[in-house]
Amino acid sequence: MKELSLHILDLVENSLKAEARNVEIIVKENTKEDLLKISIIDDGKGMSKEFLENVTDPFTTTRRTRSVGLGISLTKAAAERCNGSFEISSQIDKGTEVEITFQHSNIDRAPLGNMGQTISTIINQCGETEIAYNHTYNDKKFTIDTREIKEILDGVSIKSTNVLLWIIEFVNENIKNLYKY
Ligand SMILES: Nc1ncnc2c1ncn2[C@@H]1O[C@H](COP(=O)(O)OP(=O)(O)OP(=O)(O)O)[C@@H](O)[C@H]1O
Ligand SMILES: [Mg+2]
Repeated sequence: MKELSLHILDLVENSLKAEARNVEIIVKENTKEDLLKISIIDDGKGMSKEFLENVTDPFTTTRRTRSVGLGISLTKAAAERCNGSFEISSQIDKGTEVEITFQHSNIDRAPLGNMGQTISTIINQCGETEIAYNHTYNDKKFTIDTREIKEILDGVSIKSTNVLLWIIEFVNENIKNLYKY
């Protein structure tokens, strides 16, 4: 069972490979509705209708190093195992939107995992792409956006070790606060 943060990492890597300039990661937890929803929205090069129809098939990939692409098919299987769903929409040169839903309380639902580490890893990998992360837990909300961080940093690289370490702590601390009464 893979932590959900690793599925998020896989999906964002797809967005970065598709040359997205902006990626938005949204995690929505609603315990009343018993739902955990993850959306990844990018403005990358998108996929054609024909390609999209087969993209949840593991043999669909534009990878050159091996002939199967596993990211999307594994994520879809994880969602469906916990009474959830997987939806993807895409338009050439506009971008791609993936929405994965899990039953929050489902015994097969993997934990979210270390989102601080995941966001930090993504920022370290992302070139010039701007990343926004938005997490809600019922009516509480936390957001982090590379545009805002860069403004505060005032020229210091967002990829410097100290900043990346700070991002891990900052994200994990804020997520912990979401779960507090
Ligand atoms: N956000 C996206 N924008 C454009 N194309 C995408 C996007 N996500 C996936 N694709 C296309 O769908 C294919 C399949 O994606 P998937 O994540 O399942 O496998 P992969 O990325 O090829 O390999 P792996 O994830 O195992 O490293 C990719 O090769 C890519 O061509
Ligand atoms: Mg992939």
